Amino acid sequence: MSIHLIVLAAGSGSRMESDRPKVLHEIAGAPMIEHALRVGDALEIGARVVVVGHGGDDVRDTVLNIDENIRVVEQTEQLGTAHAVTMAAPEFKGAKGDAVVLYGDTPFIRAETLETMSAARASGADIVVLGFDTPDPARYGRLVTDGATLTRIVEWKDATDAERAITLCNSGVIMAEAATLMRLAAAVSNDNAAGEFYLTDIVELGHAEGLTAAVVTCDEAETLGINTRQDLAAAEAVFQSNARADAMENGVTLQAPDTVYFSFDTYIGRDAVIEPNVVFAPGVTVESGATIRAFSHLEGAHVGSGAIVGPYARLRPGTELSNNVKIGNFVEIKNALIADGAKVNHLSYIGDADIGADTNIGAGTVTCNYDGVFKHRTTIGERVFIGSNTLLVAPVTVGDDAMTATGTVVTSNVSDGDMAIGRAKQVNKPGLARRLFQKLRAAKAASSKG
Ligand code: UD1
Ligand code: MG
Repeated sequence: MSIHLIVLAAGSGSRMESDRPKVLHEIAGAPMIEHALRVGDALEIGARVVVVGHGGDDVRDTVLNIDENIRVVEQTEQLGTAHAVTMAAPEFKGAKGDAVVLYGDTPFIRAETLETMSAARASGADIVVLGFDTPDPARYGRLVTDGATLTRIVEWKDATDAERAITLCNSGVIMAEAATLMRLAAAVSNDNAAGEFYLTDIVELGHAEGLTAAVVTCDEAETLGINTRQDLAAAEAVFQSNARADAMENGVTLQAPDTVYFSFDTYIGRDAVIEPNVVFAPGVTVESGATIRAFSHLEGAHVGSGAIVGPYARLRPGTELSNNVKIGNFVEIKNALIADGAKVNHLSYIGDADIGADTNIGAGTVTCNYDGVFKHRTTIGERVFIGSNTLLVAPVTVGDDAMTATGTVVTSNVSDGDMAIGRAKQVNKPGLARRLFQKLRAAKAASSKG
């Protein structure tokens, strides 16, 4: 049976010193709330409901952009986590199945962990709470247990010294049947040190009416919550270290793992080799056996099998490199399809272009794709030789097996098999260089004497 997700993102509680809502700050190229929502990608998910604060328009827009089917509800006043959950109640009228509460600022809860919680539900617990054991429990809520049973959760503010000594803490993630969750959340009072409606109180309420609660534990790192820029940097580091480990486990060679940066959606195939200092911005897929050489930056790009990119290459959105393509140093590619075996080896800009199979693009080639208002496309056929320093003024087409001479400015189409030469004719002046040097050196000597 599918699980419904409720993601709480209304509380401010932020010490980010930012004009942006906290949950929109990014980790690995995606807003942190997207990480929380994406845990559902690996599970069978029912409804997804996000609770935003008053005026949470940016959060709403971001969430709907991720998936327009996500329901967004508003909690005008932040009266506590139970109150936030009840804001989602209208979305669950008559809903069957379980719901799990996540926080928008806690991005690393794993799908496997939610599955373990589901299994605990299936084996009889009415409420399942995700906890973690830590030597430094700080101000987390404490899980009070009696054998395997969770009897209540006490917030730090309300805890006795003996309860504060408990090291088993509440992560905030709670799972129960949606109807039970809503009913109990609506029943909690705000009679506590913070004057808030605590979601954590549903455990004690449930216990009183004979429901059982159980704890599932995870590593503390998984429950990492973000409140400051330092936390954000720490979260980024956790993400990157996991992504590097995953890549290597999946058969990718990372020569200097700590210098390679991944995005939330980077895919790299088996036996790919990634040299040091490579950045994968969002939207990159690299097929097996490709090599990304040092200091390259890739975004929104697909790299085919056996392709070699870099060093110092920049692949921008819309780049499609087929198998065995070579992209060399100081080359920028944008919105371009480069077919099998084609080479762009040095100092070129290829934008809005189609390059045919086995074509060679000489050093310093530029597709002049922009006229200041519109973008235009350059189409180059197969087995073409583009001479160094060719400027292709788009829209323009170069046919199969054609050539352009070095330094040509291509302004009109070149047919199959033709050669385009468009440059000033060279004239040599016998002895002129030597005479000019003599004159200039004499002038310099005269001026330094004076
Ligand atoms: C909560 C738990 C605590 C747990 C800790 C883990 C309660 C009462 N306490 O405490 O046991 O150890 O998380 O990090 O649940 N939110 C709303 N609306 C509100 C209040 C909060 O949407 O009215 C959201 C916040 O944006 C945040 C989450 O709920 O994402 C948790 O709220 P927060 O104030 O951080 O709770 P803690 O005091 O940290
Ligand atoms: Mg908190």
